Formats: sequence, C-alpha cells, structure tokens
Amino acid sequence: MRHPLLDGPLPRLDGRVALITGATRGIGHAVAIAMAKAGAHLILTGRTAGALEELDDTIKAATGRTEPSSLITLNLKHGDKIDALGPSLYQRFGKLDILVAAAGILGTLTPLGHLKTDVWTDALDINLTANMRLIRTLDPLLRLSDAGRAIFVTSGAASGSNAYWSSYAVSKAGLDALVRTYAAEIANTSVCANLLSPGPIRTAMRAKAFPGEDPLSLKTPDDIAPLFVAMADPARTENGRTYAVKTAAWV
Ligand SMILES: NC(=O)c1ccc[n+]([C@@H]2O[C@H](COP(=O)([O-])OP(=O)(O)OC[C@H]3O[C@@H](n4cnc5c(N)ncnc54)[C@H](OP(=O)(O)O)[C@@H]3O)[C@@H](O)[C@H]2O)c1
Repeated sequence: MRHPLLDGPLPRLDGRVALITGATRGIGHAVAIAMAKAGAHLILTGRTAGALEELDDTIKAATGRTEPSSLITLNLKHGDKIDALGPSLYQRFGKLDILVAAAGILGTLTPLGHLKTDVWTDALDINLTANMRLIRTLDPLLRLSDAGRAIFVTSGAASGSNAYWSSYAVSKAGLDALVRTYAAEIANTSVCANLLSPGPIRTAMRAKAFPGEDPLSLKTPDDIAPLFVAMADPARTENGRTYAVKTAAWV
C-alpha cells in the first residue's frame, strides 16, 4: 500500500527555490536529492561546508545539471545567523517557494532525574527555537511565492509517552504546536505549513536511539523523500496537517 500522498504522479518543481536544513545527512540529504531531481533549485544548509559541497556534487551527478546549488554553512544554534537568512535570500532570490526543516538532534535518552540542562537546552534550541526563527525570517519570502510550502519533521515521540525521551519529545511537541500556530496565521494566504512524522527511518539518529535494532529492517531516507516532494506541490493546499507514515508498508 502506498502512502496517500503518493497516489498521483510526483509534481515537477522546476524553477522553485527550496531551502533545506539538515541537508548533510539522513532524511534532509535524501530530500535534497529528490527535490533536485524534481527540478528545484536548492539552498542547502548544514554545519560543515565540506558535507554541503559533497552533496552538491552528488546532486550534479544525479541530475546532470551544471548549475551549483546555493550552499549556506549554518549551525542552527547560532540564532543570529538564522535571523539573517531572510534578508540575504530576499536579495538573492526575492522569494522562497519551499522550506524543508529536517535538521534535528536526539540528545541523550535519560531519566528526568539525571537530565543535564545542556542536553535539554540543545534539543529545544535546535529542534524548536531554530524552527521558530526560520519561520520568523522566511515567512515574508514564503508569502512572496505564488505557493509557499513549509514542511517540518516531527516524531511519534511528540506524544510524550516514552520514558527517557523528555527533551526530544518536548521539543517535537513544541514544534507541532508552533507549526499549527503558523498554519493558522497563514490560513488566508497562499502559503501552507505542514508536518511529516516519518516513522522509523534508517539514519544515524535512529541507530543512536535504538542501537540493538537491525537497520536493514527499516525504511530508508530515500523511501520517504518522495513524500516531501509531494508535500511541496504548489497544487496541494492542505495546511496545518500532520502526515504520519504509520506503517512501513506505506512507502
Ligand atoms: N530517523 C528517524 O527514525 C526519525 C523519526 C522521526 C523523526 N525524525 C526527524 O527527522 C529529522 C531528520 O533526522 P535524521 O534521522 O535524518 O537524523 P540525522 O541523520 O542524525 O541527521 C540530522 C541532521 O540534522 C543536522 N543538524 C544537527 N544539529 C545541527 C545543528 N546544530 N545545526 C545544523 N544542523 C544540525 C545534522 O547535521 P550534521 O551533519 O552537521 O550533524 C544532520 O544533517 C529530525 O528532525 C528528526 O527528529 C527522524
């Protein structure tokens, strides 16, 4: 059974400008390649320039394009750098069509009684506050697109029902509320903001959370990347939704 988002053909994204956080690894990396294959011009962000350059080479090889992606070295802990994105991208592109906020950290799984304040703060900073700052600086650019699409990656852990996952769970629950609030604020615009809860995916984060699990039993980032392409479709007008990949059979 395919995910309902994949019922029709995938949209082309030619000429659309897409910014991706967490593009250096895991889900964001696969989404970058899928969106490039669909024709989007990519603004790739990540902490290390070398990883971004390698991804750009991979994209060129996968698509045959010679035009480089736009590479922005950005540590999402540096809030002032996030705040500067909107003005600088306005100068360069005049709009933003797609935002994929895939960057995230797991932090340390530990009983609340042992939780270090730094671990808590890092999860909130990167998984939640950075996304608030991204929305704040990029909202004007998304509104300048004919169909701005903002996509955020949440988790089943946001329910808060797993012992030891407090900082990650709270950061993702906060993200859910943040994105639904944003969606309510843009309800009468051409911008849509939605969440994707990918289920267990074979990445470094998943391996850290479940070290005893056989990674080969999991879906890969490439398996779910088409869902992001579908969610970026200018013709799709859902807003404020969470798309959950509930079973491995859905992609
Ligand atoms: N994998 C799963 O099963 C699963 C399930 C539910 C939700 N998710 C969510 O999916 C998203 C992607 O996770 P993943 O599994 O692909 O994880 P991953 O393989 O660990 O990749 C995480 C990405 O986030 C980036 N990142 C981390 N800290 C950063 C910082 N301070 N500044 C900028 N970038 C930073 C990493 O960059 P570096 O390369 O520089 O470290 C990397 O590109 C996350 O939001 C995660 O919570 C994943």
